[in-house]
Amino acid sequence: MEHLVSPGPACPGHLIGCDTRRLPRWHHDVIVIGAGVAGACAALSAAEAGADVLLLVKDSLDESNTAYAQGGIASVLGDSLRDPGDSLQQHVCDTLEAGAGLCDPDAVRDILTGAPAAIDLLMTHGCRFDCKQDGHPALTREGGHRHRRVLHGHGDGTGRAIIAALSAALRAHPGITILEQAFVIDLLGDDDGIHGALLQHDGQTMVATAAATVLATGGCGRVWRETTNPRGATGDGLALAYRAGARVTDLEFMQFHPTTLYVAGRARLLITEAMRGEGAHLVNNAGERFLLAIHPDGELAPRDIVSTAIIREIQRQDFPHVWLDASHLDPGFLASRFPTIDQACRSIGIDFSQDWIPVHPSAHYHCGGVQVDSHGQTSLPRLLACGEVAASGLHGANRLASNSLLEGVVLGQRAGLTAAGLRPVTQLCHFRRPDPPPIPESLDVSDLTAALRALMWQAVGIERDGIHLARACRSLDFWLRHQARDRFDHRGGWELHNALLVGRLVAHAAHHRPHSCGTHLRRDSDGPAQDWHLGWFRDQNG
Ligand code: SIN
Repeated sequence: MEHLVSPGPACPGHLIGCDTRRLPRWHHDVIVIGAGVAGACAALSAAEAGADVLLLVKDSLDESNTAYAQGGIASVLGDSLRDPGDSLQQHVCDTLEAGAGLCDPDAVRDILTGAPAAIDLLMTHGCRFDCKQDGHPALTREGGHRHRRVLHGHGDGTGRAIIAALSAALRAHPGITILEQAFVIDLLGDDDGIHGALLQHDGQTMVATAAATVLATGGCGRVWRETTNPRGATGDGLALAYRAGARVTDLEFMQFHPTTLYVAGRARLLITEAMRGEGAHLVNNAGERFLLAIHPDGELAPRDIVSTAIIREIQRQDFPHVWLDASHLDPGFLASRFPTIDQACRSIGIDFSQDWIPVHPSAHYHCGGVQVDSHGQTSLPRLLACGEVAASGLHGANRLASNSLLEGVVLGQRAGLTAAGLRPVTQLCHFRRPDPPPIPESLDVSDLTAALRALMWQAVGIERDGIHLARACRSLDFWLRHQARDRFDHRGGWELHNALLVGRLVAHAAHHRPHSCGTHLRRDSDGPAQDWHLGWFRDQNG
């Protein structure tokens, strides 16, 4: 199988050497890596199907990208519960339209059809969604949705509410062993597929083997300087799968969220699109709603359009951000509907019922990833993937807001069931791999991490062009080749390596697509060229 960037001297197939005979070993039926909504649903469904599951979590159970999701989960519910005029078909149309022609229509229909069952499953695990006074779910609207169809919990704390319920279910399940603070270094595989992973836990390197391994490691937003993503989102799963030889696709499509709380020196915080859905306006320094002149849906246009318009307004006004104005909305409603944002704004002296919120776009969600089928099966036997690390065909070139939690539940559950059904390996596999060559000097990890994030933001950010992409590819090739020669024994070094590899894959993919499409905006060329892309995609993936 051919790849965009072949593993080679600049990109070894593994990060550290090992002889698994000499290492402590765990054996389970199924390994799940990552405990966001997709990983949690995969682990729970595999365990409920009778599998003995090892759940490997890089940080703690409550720390995943899912936990930071605010907006909600898109779902067209039964007739009496949905927005009048809404339908599954309308949700499909909105998803296909956002995806800019690169969605897989079968995958879209299949996954969106699973929405009511996905909501039921979450409720079975204890998740609760906000309701109106009549007891029916309160639905909100986000960019690209023609109807109110987004369920939310705890106001803007949807992700935290889901993770709290799923974590309790995971901890209570006797068939699931949870290992927190466990960093997966490499997947272990041979011609028969993937047999497990090499990991570090408590300072010790160990091996975990299983009949099936499910990647649910989330995204890679931390590869960009400006991002809504938490510290752990360094693209580890994509790098693991790529090094192991899995097919990857649509990597250039990083979605930039239009509104992140932007105060220099402070951590960035997502300001949910649902605020615009409830009537907040984006304004420039003069208080003008600049989106109205750009798209008929104004602030609720698809995300790529809103993000690009903001960046252009920032350049035009020569000011570091624009503003979100909610001061015309009812203060009581704002505080109860958006408690997370209320608290964050108050902590820096902003009262969003009176003051404008400073906002800026930032890297948010990776639409591409490890290619999977409708059951989460990757191109490698015994390796499954679900959630943001996977590319199922639902998102195409641009994800419709709040479709990702839904996809995490639907594909997470299916991946877990598929994994639980795989026949066990009868022989115990052993792996011996030589160490990559050491070099005497040591690398300044934080300096190179900062340089990588700045380069990705400047050259592989919202607006791109061939000259800067080509330069970025050269720098990334060079950095990876240089850095890959350093043999690390700690998480920071491995994360940097993964982030460099992901940055390089994304930059090369973006460079190879000369036309704008979805989230990929080429300022040096106009118009989509889907035919060209399809030809290129076939060449890369055989
Ligand atoms: C948001 O709340 O604006 C983010 C929702 C999403 O990214 O799906």
